Amino acid sequence: MPLKVGVIGCGFQGRLHVDCLTKISDVEVIAIVDTNTDRLNELGNDFNINSRYHDYREFLEDCRCDLVTICTMPVFHSEMTIAALENGAHVLCEKPLAMNAQEGKEMVLAAKKAGKILAVGYNMRFTPNALLISDFIEKGKLGKPIKTRAWANASQIPWWGEHYRREISGGGALAATAVHFLDLALHFSGFPKPISVSASSTSLFPRKRGGTIPKGVSPNLYTSEDLISAHIRFDNGFWLDLEGSWIDNQPSVDGQPSWDYSLDSIGETGQVRFDPLSIRTEDNGEIIDVLSKDTLSDVSFPPSVAALILDVIQAVRDGRQPKVTGEEALAVQIIVDAIYESAKTFKEVRM
Ligand SMILES: NC(=O)c1ccc[n+]([C@@H]2O[C@H](COP(=O)([O-])OP(=O)(O)OC[C@H]3O[C@@H](n4cnc5c(N)ncnc54)[C@H](O)[C@@H]3O)[C@@H](O)[C@H]2O)c1
Repeated sequence: MPLKVGVIGCGFQGRLHVDCLTKISDVEVIAIVDTNTDRLNELGNDFNINSRYHDYREFLEDCRCDLVTICTMPVFHSEMTIAALENGAHVLCEKPLAMNAQEGKEMVLAAKKAGKILAVGYNMRFTPNALLISDFIEKGKLGKPIKTRAWANASQIPWWGEHYRREISGGGALAATAVHFLDLALHFSGFPKPISVSASSTSLFPRKRGGTIPKGVSPNLYTSEDLISAHIRFDNGFWLDLEGSWIDNQPSVDGQPSWDYSLDSIGETGQVRFDPLSIRTEDNGEIIDVLSKDTLSDVSFPPSVAALILDVIQAVRDGRQPKVTGEEALAVQIIVDAIYESAKTFKEVRM
């Protein structure tokens, strides 16, 4: 029997989910949902999916799914995830988990109560670079994690969705993009317990990068931060410096906005960089490059989403937890909340 999947949200990420799901054998996308008729029909026609809904509650009532993937903006993540779980489906919810940690806790609790999987779309962990770094760390070669610097700096706001409206997205340069690197930094360091957060943020658009606004979008709707930095301390002595920006003056590459996303992690015995990939250790003072000369730096986005979705499908089939769990995404969300709180109050937040 094919695994039955429903996808809620037919925008940028929903289209990618459907594309990935239809390439997995013994998986059937039985229905799609979007309030926007044009998007719903375009996606349905492109992938030959005839069961289409405007109302996710109607979809959940009509369709018995093994898995529901949630690809709407964060303002809907919690209510849609909980409703799908209560209807007996496993859930893959896109990142960030929710608008805040309180909502995230309710989602994690609902999954536990229903005895279902709650997976979250932190796909960067599935890039070849992240997998090579994880392997190095699992072999104990990085040593005790000491410090990580992670950044996600872009020359443009991701205009394709309403990521710039805080009341819908839960936040901007942090919640929508740098959050991937917060997750990656926590994943590489074994999810230590945070003890304090100190952060600053601002919103420079439209004074900076104002010319990038697409036709039909009002700058008055822009309510999120576009520059943010945070210093996070953990109870094992590890610390993380995180930075997110949408207003970098980096030249575009091949007509595309520039994305400078990476992470540099120092351990007691090694050091890794996510992109461009480097994995180094030392021997008696001599720096050893662990990678062979033909290892390519690969952080490509759609294949990492495909790999994450495949992991979730296998987790559902095998009755195991997925590689990115709701609990881990909640740990990320708790830090996101503390970063916003610290930036708002100009005070260190003790956790
Ligand atoms: N993993 C990643 O790297 C990645 C990349 C892009 C987006 N995302 C995440 O995916 C989510 C969606 O982002 P996007 O860029 O696809 O946004 P988007 O705006 O392109 O798509 C969202 C879709 O949801 C639809 N929608 C709105 N309200 C709805 C409702 N009540 N019921 C059903 N559909 C509704 C909209 O019409 C739209 O088509 C966000 O959480 C975002 O952070 C993740």
